[in-house]
Amino acid sequence: MASDLVRFSVAMPEDLLMDFDAYVARRGLARNRSEVVRDLVRDALVKDECALPGAEVMGTLTIVFNHHASDIQEKLNAIQHDHYANIISSTHVHLDQDNCLEVIIMRGEGVAVQKIADKILGTKGVKNGGVVVTAVDPRV
Ligand code: NI
Repeated sequence: MASDLVRFSVAMPEDLLMDFDAYVARRGLARNRSEVVRDLVRDALVKDECALPGAEVMGTLTIVFNHHASDIQEKLNAIQHDHYANIISSTHVHLDQDNCLEVIIMRGEGVAVQKIADKILGTKGVKNGGVVVTAVDPRV
């Protein structure tokens, strides 16, 4: 159930507001300043909630790697088996002759999910990637 909207004013430098308005415009015609501010506040609150000790989160880790790199698939597989309780699923996509993309879905305490993501991202041969987490039961 949504609560009533409350109006408040915000002061910011003019150039920052101009940049923000350009950002709002890029978000699409249906968006306005208020909706984008609400989205940004919700994102910040969910991120903060995920970082709290004991917070239960869902996370997706996306990585790109060259499957010719030595033993990389075995190493990635071993890490995922070491953390089978946190790893819900993974999807592998062959990008081209050499490169693979993998999306790994995780669940657990925020700190644990981030540690697993760091271990995978730090595996030799992983070219790049990133993790996105959200609270399992967000307050916002
Ligand atoms: Ni592949």
